[in-house]
Parts: sequence; structure tokens; C-alpha cells
Amino acid sequence: MKGPISIAVVGSGYVGLVAAACFAEIGHRVICVDNDEEKVSTLQNGGIPIHEEYLPELIQRHRGDRLQFTSDLRAATQAAQAIFIAVGTPQSSSGSADLSYVDAVASEIARSIDGYKVLVEKSTVPVYTNEWIRRVIERNGVPKELFDVTSNPEFLREGTAVVDFLHPDRIVLGAATERASDLLQAIYRPLTVGEYYGAENAVPGPRGQNDTPPVLLTSTKAAEIIKHASNAFLATKISFINVVANVCEAAGADVEEVARGLGMDTRIGPKFLRAGIGYGGSCFPKDVAAFRHVAEQVGVDFTLLREVEKINEEQKQRFFRKVRSALWTFRGKKIGVLGLAFKGGTDDVRESPALDIVQQLLKEGCIVTAYDPAAEERSKELIPPGPQMRYVSDPYDAAQDADALLILNDWQEFLELDLERLHYTLRYPILIDGRNLYDPGRMAQMGFTYLSVGRPGPMHALDPAISSRFTL
Ligand code: UDX
Repeated sequence: MKGPISIAVVGSGYVGLVAAACFAEIGHRVICVDNDEEKVSTLQNGGIPIHEEYLPELIQRHRGDRLQFTSDLRAATQAAQAIFIAVGTPQSSSGSADLSYVDAVASEIARSIDGYKVLVEKSTVPVYTNEWIRRVIERNGVPKELFDVTSNPEFLREGTAVVDFLHPDRIVLGAATERASDLLQAIYRPLTVGEYYGAENAVPGPRGQNDTPPVLLTSTKAAEIIKHASNAFLATKISFINVVANVCEAAGADVEEVARGLGMDTRIGPKFLRAGIGYGGSCFPKDVAAFRHVAEQVGVDFTLLREVEKINEEQKQRFFRKVRSALWTFRGKKIGVLGLAFKGGTDDVRESPALDIVQQLLKEGCIVTAYDPAAEERSKELIPPGPQMRYVSDPYDAAQDADALLILNDWQEFLELDLERLHYTLRYPILIDGRNLYDPGRMAQMGFTYLSVGRPGPMHALDPAISSRFTL
């Protein structure tokens, strides 16, 4: 099977929109479907609802040509050979994934099928979802030979989603029939044979014509589990290093040195060993809970994941105690905050540890002035501006006359700040860094009281593990 394939992508959230733009970029004909008419009209007119590097360029390049937007799922289904389901799978009150959107989309697709179609799960879903989709379609009277349901999990990080899509570590294709597997492999062929990397204007990244991504062909269930297990493992790695950071802090060692030493073991690897204020975002918290729930449902006790969640929650509290130990009291204190999104490089504030900390500061009576290069608008929806909460569009304005400055995510821009200017802008040169962006020695030399995570500083005596004996 060669040449462009007709693809429908259902859902134009982070995953769906990136997938649609990237499938068009590698040569396919793509229709991206969403039931939100307003969003569809924004996209049709060239508006981009999310902040994602390279996405505007790709949409601009292909919109109206290889990339169309519509709210007509029936027409999109009929025009497509493969239909990717990339709708939301939010967390339900029990912690399990709420699959009602997937269910609704599957039924609607079933009612529109007029020839052989390959349905592809792209959203993160629990194992067995594949079978459920199959049942839903059959219940709607579609004969078995007219469709296959497959799983092709995404491993995109927000902020670098386009590069992650086009230069992936691996491509996982879970399919039960050769026919469906062949179609999925054909879709990714421009990447797997390296053709895309030689193209003019190709989005640059780690892969190249001589270093193409591997394809892993699996069962549909294995593909579903790979996705959940990958996210749960990465979250575990983060919680692990956060506890190690706490040990370092109490013992007077530097977690950055320890992480380097750990990461040099190729069996462990250096990535996702950055200690901080805990993980957030639309995936890790939800997927850890969902995977734990899946394990429970199949009778397996995965208490390790409960511990991972507990550590993650405690890490925010610990940071908060650190701020308290530096400031003594909170009421009326003016706090500058740099970073509101759940990490740098995105405007997404879902499950953002930064917003949790800001909310706690406000509850304690602080006056917060916050800056984030992209997340101001989305933050305002959750924490409206008011007498206690001000948003500014310049990092130095956040620091102006503040009793302390907190760094809550890791935008590259924060690494490039003029520290001298920050020093004299602040009322007191206290910088509490939840992401370990600066060198403690240099900060001390510059006259900052600098507290970070898992590193001994000049204020070691203020370490909560030690100072808790003396305060409040
Ligand atoms: C994640 C997965 O990486 C991706 O494969 C999946 O498809 C979706 O979920 P994303 O949520 O965009 O991607 O963010 P990621 O970069 O993985 O970071 C998640 C959270 O962990 C952030 O809050 C980040 O700040 C935190 N983190 C990450 C750490 O605290 N330390 C680290 O070393 C790495």
C-alpha cells in the first residue's frame, strides 16, 4: 500500500489536532472532526486554539488543502480509510477513565460505515476498550468484515508534541488483522522509511533518513497497556526522584548530582529524573489513577501507584512548607510567581502544581503577582484576577517589591532572566525555586536567599526537615 491515505481524526484537542496536522504533513488527506462548531469554525479560519510549537506552521501549510476541518462525522467517516479516535477520556469520580465520549463517537461512526474502515484508538484508554468499541459497532448492525478496531497510542508531550509525533522514539501499532496492520503501517511509512526526513521544510528533530523510528507490532491489548504503563512508569520515576531529593535535602547532598549519577546507568537513563514540585498535566495524574483502577478491575493490587500519587501530592505540600519557612507568616505578604502552566512550553494549566500552590498562598492571605509566558488566559479561568491576585505580562513586574519570588515551572525564558535586575526589583532577595533552574552557589554569591528542591543551600538551616523543630 503506497501513497496518500484518507484519514479522519475525531477530536481536535491536543492529541487530535497535532495528529491531524502531522498526518497531513507526511502526505495524507486528513479531515479533522469536532462537534464543537465554534472550534471548527475557528480552525477553518486559521485560528489555533492551543499553544504548540510548529503547529501554526503546519496548519497554515496544509489547511484547505490536505487538512480540512468539519463537524460532520458521518461525511468524514465515509471519506476515510482510517478513523482515529482522539476524544477526551476524563477521569471519573472513581478514578477510572470516563469513556462516554469514545462510546458516543463509536456509535456514530457505526451508523455511518459504508465500506471497510479501520478504527484507531488514539486517546489513552484502558485495556479492553478495543473490545468494547468492537461490540458497540457490531450492536449497530455493522458486519465484522466491514471494520477493524486497532490501537495506536500517542506519546506526545505538550509543548513538543509536533516534534514528538514526527520524530518518535517508537511507533506502537496494535492490530488483530493483517489488513488493518498493513493500513496502519502504510500511514506511518513516510516516517519509518525516512522519506519525510529528506523532504524540504521537514520539521527538524532527532530522527533522520538514517535513523528512522522503529515500529512495534503488538496485540491491541498490549498497545493499550503500553500507553498506560509508560505514563505510570514515568510518573513513578518522577515521584522516586522527588523522594530521593527529600533525602538529599535532609542529608545535605545535592539531588542534581545524585540524579546525574543515577541517569548515567544506561538501565536507568537520565530523563524524567528532575526533582521539583511534582508532576501535573492532563495525562500523568489521570493515567496513573486510571491504570491503578484497571489493575484493580482485573484483580491486581497495584499499591505502588497509590504511593506514587501520595508522594506527588506531598511534594507540593513540602514546597509550600518551604515557602512558609522562608517567610515565617503569610498574611499580607506579597509573593511574585513565575510559571502557572503545569510545565514550561505550554499554556495548559490542567492539574498544574503551580496553580495549586498559588491557590494555597491566596487562601493563606498572600497577595500574588503572577507571570507565565503563555498560561495567563487559562489561569484566569480558574483563578480570576482580583485584589489578591494580579497577572502581569513581564517577569520583572511579578518580582516588583515582592517579599519573595517563587519559580513554579520551567520555561526556558526563566533561565535567561537578568538575575541582578531581579535582585534589586524584589523587596527581599528571596527566591524559592521549585524547578532547580539556578546554581545555588552563584545565587548565594549574588546575595540571594535561594531555596530549591533537594539541594543544600546557604539556608540549609531553613530546610523544613530541620526547621520544623523550631517553627510554628
Ligand atoms: C506526558 C507524557 O510524557 C507523554 O508521553 C504522554 O503522551 C502525555 O503525558 P505531558 O503531560 O505533556 O506528557 O508532560 P511531560 O513533559 O511528560 O511532564 C509531565 C509532568 O511531569 C510535568 O508537570 C513536568 O513538569 C513533570 N516532570 C517531568 C517532572 O517533574 N520531572 C521530570 O523529570 C519530568
